[in-house]
Amino acid sequence: MIACVLFLIVFYKVNSIQSRGYQVEKLRKISLIGSTLALAFISPSFLADSQGAFAREVRVFSGRHYNTDKKIYKKFNDETGIKVRLFETTGISLVEKLKREGKNSQADLILLVDAARINKAAKEGLLQSFSSAKLDREVPAEYKDPKGRWYGLTRRLRVIIANPKIVDIKKIRTYSDLADPSLKGKVCLRKRKNVYNQSLVAGQLVLRGKEQTKAWLRGMISNVTQPYFPGDISLARAVAQGGCGVGIVNHYYVARMLAGVNGVKDREMAQKLSVITPNPAHVNVSAGGLAKFATNKKEAIQLLEYLASPNGSSGLAGPTFEHPLRGFGGSRILKKFGTFKPDGVTISQLGEANGTAIKLMTQSGWK
Ligand SMILES: [Fe+2]
Repeated sequence: MIACVLFLIVFYKVNSIQSRGYQVEKLRKISLIGSTLALAFISPSFLADSQGAFAREVRVFSGRHYNTDKKIYKKFNDETGIKVRLFETTGISLVEKLKREGKNSQADLILLVDAARINKAAKEGLLQSFSSAKLDREVPAEYKDPKGRWYGLTRRLRVIIANPKIVDIKKIRTYSDLADPSLKGKVCLRKRKNVYNQSLVAGQLVLRGKEQTKAWLRGMISNVTQPYFPGDISLARAVAQGGCGVGIVNHYYVARMLAGVNGVKDREMAQKLSVITPNPAHVNVSAGGLAKFATNKKEAIQLLEYLASPNGSSGLAGPTFEHPLRGFGGSRILKKFGTFKPDGVTISQLGEANGTAIKLMTQSGWK
């Protein structure tokens, strides 16, 4: 590029010389050939560079660990021409990574599962507020940040799973029933550090207040005699195998086991489970927000709007057996689980109550 400019300057200067001597003509020819060659050589790479700079893309840093999400990104790319570059990390490490990288972060759009994580990301200043008429319309108020830093995309429920051979499932209708003394030694739970349970307890705090939540936790935890489980799937297996009578998991883990996603053995185990959806149910979300230092801001908002639209939300939720933002998942398995009525606690409230929830869980002996 510099060579081209130099030749052009020389060409201009030489042309401005009035004299028509042999040396001047020679110089004029050289500078003309030089600048033409430089232009011919530089133009293709320059144009390619320009196209690269103008090619639209959005870098998604996702704590959603579902391979099937790629399908909806592909659809978005087909429809808009915007390339989605996906970086997957588990939720906690994603928040830590973004904090560590600060201004150097490559993230445009951040996707996280659970109220606790998305609220934490907002609180840590990793997201920026923005407004969008489309998102305001598509995302119900209870599933978005009042400050516009994140928007819910899919919904998940914390349901009760029970082994009908061990417990009387007619007596178990909601989370508070797990505190009943008749379930002594039969209740199994996932570890306290898991955000899904923290959000469940946060929800009960909002709905029932501190004292009632404390009493519920005291009763339920005194029914737990086994070590706490590392994951929802291992807990579901233990209930199916009869090691536990009843537990709490996210609904889509059971749905995926039933669909055979984890193999025949898990499917057979899940078939032994009764799924009890409390009415009303604790609802959580996976959500997305614009990264604080996003460079492809417009594209990130466009993708978020796409994912929150009825087609986008169903496209994300369908393959993972989550529920879309509105209505219910349409798969045969989810239909069997039945519909649900959300308990009305907002995702923002779940975030605010998270600290107290962890404190009460610790005090109750939830390991
Ligand atoms: Fe999960």
